[in-house]
Amino acid sequence: MSKRPRPLVAANWKMNGTRSSARTWGETMSVRTLSNALECDIVVSPPMPLFDLVFQALAQNEAISLCGQDCASRGNGPHTGDTSAEMLVEAGCRYVLVGHSERRRDHGESNAVVKAKATRAVTHGLVPIICVGESQAQREAGRATQVVRSQIGRSLPDLTSGIDVVIAYEPVWAIGTGRLPELAEISEMHDSIRNYLIRRAQTWAGDIRIIYGGSVKAINAGKIMRLQNVNGCLVGGASLDEDDFWSICITCDNLQRSHI
Ligand code: 13P
Repeated sequence: MSKRPRPLVAANWKMNGTRSSARTWGETMSVRTLSNALECDIVVSPPMPLFDLVFQALAQNEAISLCGQDCASRGNGPHTGDTSAEMLVEAGCRYVLVGHSERRRDHGESNAVVKAKATRAVTHGLVPIICVGESQAQREAGRATQVVRSQIGRSLPDLTSGIDVVIAYEPVWAIGTGRLPELAEISEMHDSIRNYLIRRAQTWAGDIRIIYGGSVKAINAGKIMRLQNVNGCLVGGASLDEDDFWSICITCDNLQRSHI
């Protein structure tokens, strides 16, 4: 691999946050990123009702991109409770999470649905962050790599040209549990994903960012992001606190600077 892609650190608030905490987070992070130009992309994914407020608090700061937590697999129309990719674009989003394991679990989303969502996102100019990851039982059965490759194969939009997509590897059993895989396990999975992408997308596969999620904290972010094919991280619980999240961003920035 000739060069490392610019890393990405994403905050996924899930169904958390208040108007007050969102405003503080946005304003604090805005000031910090304006006075420190980081060598990584920063993304925040608040719940929809807090979207506009975070957008305002960031004061159109280009250093932090807004991200939807999901988008519909269809366009505008009679689909109560859903949010379309085009609405996310209008709300100021540049990214959208699709196929998070909590959505696969809570809403029965199949790989085919995730692919339809990712495709709509790409069509409307959003960068989909496509989430994949094995369950505890699948890992114990020695099927982790096979499961993740199959999810990627079926969830990715057709890679016809150099479209921008991000893959987030999030082992289900590591999410919100404080249990981190062995570094060798993370490394092995990210290498396997990269090799799969090289076979499928060839020339630009090296540019696709593969980020890790699941119990990432300020104290472990460095050792995870130091791994060869880990191009950033997707942070849940630790992203709610602007100080913890900032510390993860700084770690990523320092690592990237040591490579350029
Ligand atoms: P935690 O960082 O809370 O484990 O959540 C990870 C996650 O699901 C991010 O999308």
